[in-house]
Amino acid sequence: MKQEQRGAFSSHFGTMMAVVGSAVGLGNIWRFPYLAGMNGGAAFLLLYLVLILLVGLPLILSEFILGRATHRGAVGAFKQLAPKSKWYLVGYMGVVAGFCILGFYSVIAGWSVRFLYDAVANFRVGQSYEELQAGFVAFRNTGWQPILLSVGFLGLTALVVFRGVEKGVERWNKILMPLLLGILLVLCVNSFTLSGFREGMSFLFRPDFSKIGIDTVLDALGQVFFTLSLGMGVMITYSSYVVKPENMLRSKGIVVLIDTSIAIVSGIAIFPAVFTFQISPTQGPDLIFLTLPNVFARMSGGHYVGILFFLLITIAALTSMVSIFEMMTNYMMEELKMTRRRAVMWLFGTLSLVSALCAQSQVEGSRLMIAGYNVFDFLDMLSANYLMTISGLLIVIFTGWRLSEKRLRRVFTTNGTYNNRIYPLFRFVVRFLSPIAVAIIFLSKIGLLRG
Ligand code: PFF
Repeated sequence: MKQEQRGAFSSHFGTMMAVVGSAVGLGNIWRFPYLAGMNGGAAFLLLYLVLILLVGLPLILSEFILGRATHRGAVGAFKQLAPKSKWYLVGYMGVVAGFCILGFYSVIAGWSVRFLYDAVANFRVGQSYEELQAGFVAFRNTGWQPILLSVGFLGLTALVVFRGVEKGVERWNKILMPLLLGILLVLCVNSFTLSGFREGMSFLFRPDFSKIGIDTVLDALGQVFFTLSLGMGVMITYSSYVVKPENMLRSKGIVVLIDTSIAIVSGIAIFPAVFTFQISPTQGPDLIFLTLPNVFARMSGGHYVGILFFLLITIAALTSMVSIFEMMTNYMMEELKMTRRRAVMWLFGTLSLVSALCAQSQVEGSRLMIAGYNVFDFLDMLSANYLMTISGLLIVIFTGWRLSEKRLRRVFTTNGTYNNRIYPLFRFVVRFLSPIAVAIIFLSKIGLLRG
């Protein structure tokens, strides 16, 4: 398919905002704080930082290399680079993971719209923690409300993607991402004024190593994949839209830095508030939804802070969903030869079903369970801890071992223009360190390696 037909990003800034828009999402603002809360705060943060450098950065570069080398999407890139082999199945894993992630992600995006509405209407003011919890459960138990909201959110995502790469994806990211950064800054500054600031900070920055076990390591690894949108072919697809030469290491380094900073800043915005109002940081997935409305209700100016916060999550969710939706649309256009309109319509229909199943599985007493988990938790766990990690592992192995050395060097250094000296280190990391790190963690988790 010609580049004009598949679309392209028009500027470096637009590319950067689209990639940051994909990376920064519920993973940073909802998932990172709750995982850190459950896994001992600072100990988790430390592990996460190590894994970002060891696995996250090399992998995001690998995906970019595959996309730039081929200008094809998740499946097509492998077909072109390794014809007559089964490597393209890695691309399919990404597409399957896309269904899983969008299924549960859209449900949380729907919740954030509901909470945004409540914040604007000043609805939760004066409620105790128990009342809030009851309200949240009642909302989920209606079934139809979360379903309607998540399907609506998917519709919004579909509209952006329908407009195309430059006029939809790039344009909206260029508007929304700077807005998101601004809101987060206001929230973070606000956090400094809270009485629980010191306690919150020490929870986030003073590690307690006794909390680290193999589950913590796997959670941290899964979070690295999730937060940088790795192992799904999203980054392969986005990089295939980049047509101008660029210093890849620098631009991806900046993306990783921004993404990591936003997760930490979210922690700084959230934990002091949690400690100020003496709420347990180990809540799990409900953390921000149950604690924060309560915190906002008791804070001076909390009405506005609450509105800003839920607006922040809504924006973050939208730009990340757009990236997954775009990767899947690209697959259907390129491999199944559909028009963009048709692909978007098909995806919207099928994803709405998955998302409805996820929302319905959270209704109390629902029998929508898989392997002892409700469908929602199952898809969250399956995609981040398994599908993304396994296909991510295969992607680095492919980049390090299967791609020709000449091509790897040429794409990484943009034909010898940038980072020639750092290239051997990159190659070593991609061939050895990253795959070994992921494999060890993974094998330990499934019990094949014992410490
Ligand atoms: N990186 C997004 C987040 O942190 O919320 C989630 C995500 C987007 C995961 C795109 C996977 C993906 F392909």
